[in-house]
Amino acid sequence: MADNGSVLVVGGTSEIGKRIAKQYADQGESVIVTSRDAAKAQAAAKDIGGDSSGIALDLVKPHEIGDALGEVGPVKYLVLVAIERDSNMIDDFNVDGALNLFTMKLVGYAEVIHALRKRLSDDSAIVLFGGLAKERPYPGSTTVTTVNGGVSTMIKSLAIQLAPIRVNAIHPAIVGDSPFWAATPPEVLEAFRVRTPLGRLVEIDDVVHATSFLLENKAVNAVNLNLDGGWLAM
Ligand SMILES: NC(=O)c1ccc[n+]([C@@H]2O[C@H](COP(=O)([O-])OP(=O)(O)OC[C@H]3O[C@@H](n4cnc5c(N)ncnc54)[C@H](OP(=O)(O)O)[C@@H]3O)[C@@H](O)[C@H]2O)c1
Repeated sequence: MADNGSVLVVGGTSEIGKRIAKQYADQGESVIVTSRDAAKAQAAAKDIGGDSSGIALDLVKPHEIGDALGEVGPVKYLVLVAIERDSNMIDDFNVDGALNLFTMKLVGYAEVIHALRKRLSDDSAIVLFGGLAKERPYPGSTTVTTVNGGVSTMIKSLAIQLAPIRVNAIHPAIVGDSPFWAATPPEVLEAFRVRTPLGRLVEIDDVVHATSFLLENKAVNAVNLNLDGGWLAM
């Protein structure tokens, strides 16, 4: 185990979560990844390699999160990546989809931190994942926009309550090489690319690098990092 504990990635079966976990496993850290399914979490840990393990945890069952984390020891870095996307229009509002996403990110993320509170040290750091729908809503983003806005304010409250533990959020634009976008028609992604000053979309490597920065830089706290290649400036 690394100094002050493990690296815990909630949503560690997503490609983004897995790559964050792998970076730390490759550095010799002890890594724990979660999935709703224990076998899937263990398979992801096997792919990640090194000193990795997988556990089951369901963010939409917040009352069960404490027990799910029962075997986890001290935690150095906590990364909350998990999402189940909700496409929701106010004219055709889906209450179950809304409750699911709100519970996951606004209650579940907070409950994970609450459950781990005594296993965090002053040197621990936490990163929550939001997204740029907080700035740029799109049709169907009723709940995603609201939840990402919630993440962006939650970190400020947490950074104060957990001080000196640092709490930051990352808000990526479209991560072009993430599996979520694989089935998207190329012309849709191209429309985003041409409106990105960088001339390319954000990639998973960029997200991993930025997450490490937020976790490791000792002065970065209560920051919402928009990772967008300048897209919001256009
Ligand atoms: N991809 C992008 O372009 C993009 C852009 C902006 C922001 N983001 C943010 O980046 C993060 C990762 O996105 P992604 O595209 O890599 O996601 P993804 O591939 O859809 O992966 C979602 C992850 O969440 C886990 N998960 C789903 N429901 C869960 C639940 N009820 N409880 C616990 N875990 C659950 C999944 O695990 P199991 O299925 O194994 O349970 C999986 O590990 C998200 O927070 C997203 O909002 C992504």
